Amino acid sequence: MASAPRIIAANTAPEIITEFASDVVVGLSQPGQKELPSKYLYDEVGSGLFDVICLLPEYGLSRAGMRLLQRHSSEIVARLQSPVVVAELGSGSGVKTRLLLEALSRQQRVNYYPIDISLSALNRCQQEIGQMDQVSIVGFERAYLDGLQEVAARRKDGERLLVLFLGSTIGNFDRPAGDQFLREVRAVLQKDDALLLATDLEKPIPQLLSAYDDAAGVTAAFDMNLLARINRELDADFDLSLFKHVARYDQSERRVEMHLQSKAWQRITIRKAGFRFYLREGETIWTESSHKYNPQEVVQMGERTGYRCDGQWFDTEWPFAQNLFFAV
Ligand code: AVI
Repeated sequence: MASAPRIIAANTAPEIITEFASDVVVGLSQPGQKELPSKYLYDEVGSGLFDVICLLPEYGLSRAGMRLLQRHSSEIVARLQSPVVVAELGSGSGVKTRLLLEALSRQQRVNYYPIDISLSALNRCQQEIGQMDQVSIVGFERAYLDGLQEVAARRKDGERLLVLFLGSTIGNFDRPAGDQFLREVRAVLQKDDALLLATDLEKPIPQLLSAYDDAAGVTAAFDMNLLARINRELDADFDLSLFKHVARYDQSERRVEMHLQSKAWQRITIRKAGFRFYLREGETIWTESSHKYNPQEVVQMGERTGYRCDGQWFDTEWPFAQNLFFAV
């Protein structure tokens, strides 16, 4: 019988609001390209829209990640040294994780710790996984590294840690920031702990652009919701009809960028932040980057940040990789 699910909640709401306001002001005060941090795309509405994005025919990432775990979970867990404790950075819906936990729970009882700043994401994950036999789940409502430190502190002697970073979210960091993040994860791990990292791979540009600007307009709504969120939470007056969602591919950086482009000269006030700014016609606010990799550079990225790559599994329908690293 699975033990009752639990969430260790953060109690930081007022600071989060303040941090949100200050990040928004910093990003929109840039002298050149204005930007907003992509982490703020994921409020409750944004997370719901992201779930719909994952179902879109144009957006193959999630299905590719799922297929890989359907096909290779047993092989992946066979490479781990038991007993393993599992921490997941960003709990998502838990559907992909379930495949891996099923394979692992055929070998041992599993303690599973999803870590997410979104309480609703943790709740959804618990609905998916909470009833699994042989799996105990405790969610951490925390930033990734804070949560990981707490999980690491709970491990018993002889237990290995398996860290899951399954959504290819590493691609939403700049390449140097991605390296830095992997180093910070490594600093929490012990030698021979494992990291399963998903990465979206390079593919033809038209295919990438339609994945981030789909025909039904769901990604546009996801992007636009960031302005709606600022209106809701910070009492701003963005007029959404004066913006257009644009997806671009930057060849030299090998990344898709999402921007919100102003259709006219406009003045915007964000009352709770005491901030007013202007946008020219055609000017954009950069809201997200999604970097694309080749398999060899993922191996190198692991090697320069404190890991060795033990295996890579590829989806052929939508070029995508699951990469298993061990801390060295
Ligand atoms: C979460 N992350 C991996 C998604 C991506 O593909 O970069 C976020 C996303 N943005 C628009 N569509 C999906």
